[in-house]
Amino acid sequence: MRIAALIPAAGRGTRLGHGRPKQFLPLAGTPILAKTLSVFESSPLIRDIILVVPPGEESYSREAIIERYNLFKVKRIVPGGATRQASVAAGVSAVAEDISLVLIHDAARPFVSHEVIQRVVDTAMVSGAACAAIPVVDTLKRSTGGREGAITVDREGVWAAQTPQAFRTSVLVAALERAAADGYTGTDDASLVERLGYPVVLVEGHPCNVKITTSEDLEYAERLAQGFARASSRCETD
Ligand code: CTP
Ligand code: MG
Repeated sequence: MRIAALIPAAGRGTRLGHGRPKQFLPLAGTPILAKTLSVFESSPLIRDIILVVPPGEESYSREAIIERYNLFKVKRIVPGGATRQASVAAGVSAVAEDISLVLIHDAARPFVSHEVIQRVVDTAMVSGAACAAIPVVDTLKRSTGGREGAITVDREGVWAAQTPQAFRTSVLVAALERAAADGYTGTDDASLVERLGYPVVLVEGHPCNVKITTSEDLEYAERLAQGFARASSRCETD
């Protein structure tokens, strides 16, 4: 099966609040985006990488990331859209005709492992749609009025979704088209596939596969990247 990795990296990093989008910031001296792309570059499962970047950052991404870090599998660099979903849609339209499975992974999750990629691909090859996720361990509270009147939500069967998420190309295209027709915007790709009534299979992700969202996340990721937390958390950092 011919598989492409689609990497949405067109966000602005608003919550991190740095001058540059977070995917271009260094972790232990290497840009987050280069770290993420390197995992797919070295994965024998992946043939092509489609990279989606903020409009205007195409040349920078090519020179400072792709050429600098020898990321030969990156076949297309595509300008993204206003939402992650729009960026994914832009990336999907650049996927080669003969690709039958698309694996989508956030640029902001540089600690993804080959094992998780393998699990997601194996499952999606059989089922057509797979999503890395981890079972929620915290007790869940919902409050509709700010912070008051919180009630406990049953966490039985609740998982926190991660990326990678992988889909048969035809399923992903249909899901994006349906969402566009309905004016629906989701926070991940699997939610669009679910709306088709197509079953998404959850696959064990990894607690180290964190998404760098806030400045605290970046500090934690820097320690991980420098290897301080390696022994205790078994996170892969290279
Ligand atoms: N993303 C994208 N296009 C967008 C928004 C997000 O490709 N219009 C990408 C980000 O670059 C990131 C992934 O989707 O790799 C997950 O998004 P998120 O963590 O929300 O990143 P940002 O949108 O950049 O951050 P923020 O929401 O804080 O602005
Ligand atoms: Mg965002």
